[in-house]
Amino acid sequence: MADHPLALIVGANRGLGFGLAKELLGRGYDVIATARHPDKAGDLASLSAAHPGRVTIERLDMNHIAELDGFAPKLDGKMLDILFVNAGVSGPAHKDGMKATVEETGALMFTNAVAPVRLARHLLPNVREDTGVVAFMSSVMGSVADNMAGTSELYRASKAALNSITRGFFNAGLGGRKITVLSLHPGWVRTDMGGPSAAVGIEESVKGLADVLATQKGTHVHKFLDYRGEAIAW
Ligand SMILES: NC(=O)c1ccc[n+]([C@@H]2O[C@H](COP(=O)([O-])OP(=O)(O)OC[C@H]3O[C@@H](n4cnc5c(N)ncnc54)[C@H](OP(=O)(O)O)[C@@H]3O)[C@@H](O)[C@H]2O)c1
Repeated sequence: MADHPLALIVGANRGLGFGLAKELLGRGYDVIATARHPDKAGDLASLSAAHPGRVTIERLDMNHIAELDGFAPKLDGKMLDILFVNAGVSGPAHKDGMKATVEETGALMFTNAVAPVRLARHLLPNVREDTGVVAFMSSVMGSVADNMAGTSELYRASKAALNSITRGFFNAGLGGRKITVLSLHPGWVRTDMGGPSAAVGIEESVKGLADVLATQKGTHVHKFLDYRGEAIAW
């Protein structure tokens, strides 16, 4: 994998993560793609077979502490040009703080907000200096400024928390490393999470996201951007 830039995509077996894996492969990246259940990640296995030597599939469940904290050695010192933490969940179906249990709230916050940045902290030594980009899949629903409707309050809170922890990582966690950190909104996308009525297709979203990664690399800032590169209010 030495000749190509390298991207690690967390949660790449379906939806936007799988789309990103395909898009970045097409742009010349080798890809390390994670899945909670690699044995059931048929689309990733096919992608890997179609691109011999360019797609490595690794197991990672963000809620499995030993897997999360033990993931970094799997990179075996490889340097990442892109670390994209995409995995996320929508949380309990009722989406309602008045009905939420401690367990539901804890699981949602851990998966969407705590685990992504914890993984990035572990992998920071593997992110390439200067041109390396660490991207987190946030959502416009994580914008406090934009929260006029108040719907999906638990999910919104989890992405706002992700943005907040990410800002702390950028300001206090990089240890002097020059790296770009992005909180990205993919659009409302037709995936299992976004549903069939969503406005944007996966291909359009991931093309836009890949363009944003390319445009922002080397800027050494932390920005909240959508898949068209437009800034979102925090
Ligand atoms: N679709 C939208 O409109 C939209 C809008 C804004 C933001 N987002 C964000 O975009 C990201 C991807 O969403 P999507 O629409 O592609 O959703 P999706 O189709 O439901 O895919 C979610 C991905 O995250 C993985 N995942 C969930 N929990 C995990 C865990 N504990 N450990 C590791 N992987 C885990 C899933 O793996 P399994 O297959 O094993 O479950 C799957 O690969 C999420 O962070 C989501 O919040 C989506």
